[in-house]
Amino acid sequence: MILKEIRDAKDLKTLEQIYRKYLGKKGEITLIFRGLKNLPKEKRAKIAKDANALKALINKELKSKSETLKKESKNQISDKLDITLPGKKIVFGHLHPLTKVLREVSNIFSQMGFEIVEGPEIETEYYNFDALNIPKDHPARDMWNTFWLKVEAERRHQSTSKNAGVKMALEYGANRLLLRTHTSPVQIRYMEKHNPPIKIIAPGNVFRHEATDASHEFQLFQVEGLMVDKNVSVANFKFTIGEFFNRFFGKKINFRLRPDFFPFTEPSFDISINCVVCGGKGCSVCKKTGWVETAGAGMVHPNVFKFCKLNPKEWRGWAFGFGLERLAMMKYKIDDIRLFRSGDLRFLTQF
Ligand code: DAH
Repeated sequence: MILKEIRDAKDLKTLEQIYRKYLGKKGEITLIFRGLKNLPKEKRAKIAKDANALKALINKELKSKSETLKKESKNQISDKLDITLPGKKIVFGHLHPLTKVLREVSNIFSQMGFEIVEGPEIETEYYNFDALNIPKDHPARDMWNTFWLKVEAERRHQSTSKNAGVKMALEYGANRLLLRTHTSPVQIRYMEKHNPPIKIIAPGNVFRHEATDASHEFQLFQVEGLMVDKNVSVANFKFTIGEFFNRFFGKKINFRLRPDFFPFTEPSFDISINCVVCGGKGCSVCKKTGWVETAGAGMVHPNVFKFCKLNPKEWRGWAFGFGLERLAMMKYKIDDIRLFRSGDLRFLTQF
């Protein structure tokens, strides 16, 4: 009975209780010892002997059971702290592909002596259009599908007047606000405050009211470039941009300039590179032409210099504007521009 009780004990506390029950001050066996003196002499020796044997047996069993229990509980703890279990994986973040490409582009231009500057994403009509030689009502504005910001005065006029547009134009002049459609306004902001020689790039987000598809997004990343000095020419530009392509793609890249139109440059050209995906043979990315348009560029228009209070007879400059997504798509062979801002981890974790 007693031995079974000991064997069945689940914890040290129960063993303690068993000890008290039999061997404690008022324990059953203790009481037997106490009662010995009342027994007839001839029985005493025998009972004392048996009680001692029982006591020894109980002590022995209690000891061994308590050791087993202690061992078990130790094992349980070390189970919890099993240092051989593989740890929880810490997921490290990493740079977005556009950030990576931007850093590469910025590094290359810094190495060539360009300063990196920034401008606001919410821009005034003056910097985004007028000062870039794109007057109001000029059809050239149609090249940029624009997000205008409805400011308080505009709402007021619209709700109270039939001639809302006219009244507002009077109040705001050329200072209506919009989400900038390109990074070119940074050229103006910089030239207003700095005298040539100038060598800058201006990276940043731009916004256009676009219907999106595999090659169009309403938010893009552009990198603007501007160099102004006494004797700069298209030749300087061709060399600089060619050097940039070679370093960015890590191999010799063929590119070409073709005439284009931008109000803020004259002459203007578009820059296409030999498709990096197919090597110029023709594929779906280059629409079988072997060429991919990557940037607009040109020689700074004299009117732009005038807006910045620089003398066009004294200074010459060239400028360009890249779409950063385009470059990233070429470099990493990505066929849908919408992936960049999709937040899709299946895409992002590949970089
Ligand atoms: N800003 C133009 C655009 O968004 C691109 C561009 C063209 C920038 C010619 C320039 C330039 O600096 O000279 O389409």
